[in-house]
Amino acid sequence: MLNKKVEKALNDQIRTEAESSQTYLAMASWADAAGFPGTAGFLFAHSDEERMHMLKLIKFVNDRGGQAIIPALSQPAKDYKSLQNVFRLLNEHEERVTAEIHKVVDTCLREKDYTTHNFMQWYVAEQIEEESLARTILDKLKLLGTDNGAMYLFDRDLPGLRASQADGGGE
Ligand code: FEO
Repeated sequence: MLNKKVEKALNDQIRTEAESSQTYLAMASWADAAGFPGTAGFLFAHSDEERMHMLKLIKFVNDRGGQAIIPALSQPAKDYKSLQNVFRLLNEHEERVTAEIHKVVDTCLREKDYTTHNFMQWYVAEQIEEESLARTILDKLKLLGTDNGAMYLFDRDLPGLRASQADGGGE
């Protein structure tokens, strides 16, 4: 049976992952409408990944005798100033997610729930990847500048950047 404090921390994390998925979906839709198909594809896939992070938590909570709560979500921003703006927000969002995950890990240790602590290590490792990818993208955007030609090239190359990170070629 899940300790109540741990169950609450996991349900808070379910909300965080759901909000991440929803936020990236909003960014993807903006990029799609703004004529950045590479960025849109990247963000649609990222939104799906966050949903997978949420589902993994839901399954874990229910399997351990708790109840996963599906949260109501507020509407994310629909307009973004630029690709730089999108990825700056994404990077800040991921840093917040990392802090939230660390809070869950903290609760596990305080409550001596070593099983959930072990489960959460997957999320700790995942955040290293996610933050690294977000920083790599931001660095690339800084190098490219903001003119239309640069944005075209960025959008064209973004799917490859994700693939190279997945192969361990990132950073
Ligand atoms: Fe599930 Fe991007 O954190």
